[in-house]
Amino acid sequence: MEALRDNGFPIAAECGGACACATCHVYVEEGWAEKLPEPKAEEVDMLDMALAVQPNSRLSCQIICSAETDGIKVTIAPE
Ligand code: FES
Repeated sequence: MEALRDNGFPIAAECGGACACATCHVYVEEGWAEKLPEPKAEEVDMLDMALAVQPNSRLSCQIICSAETDGIKVTIAPE
């Protein structure tokens, strides 16, 4: 989420990354979703309230930038 926000992408991220709003909802591109850790219960609960949820939906504030996620591709979900 911070990488998207800090690079000017239109992501609301209203709660600032506290996993309390779902306005950082993204779709993780095929091939990357499987590399991410499973979402924690808080993320799953917030995604339940998001619109247009897909199997590859994640909250971008819960995706940690690391060597494993370097190059990850996501699409910002509609609000
Ligand atoms: Fe609010 Fe991710 S920024 S849930």
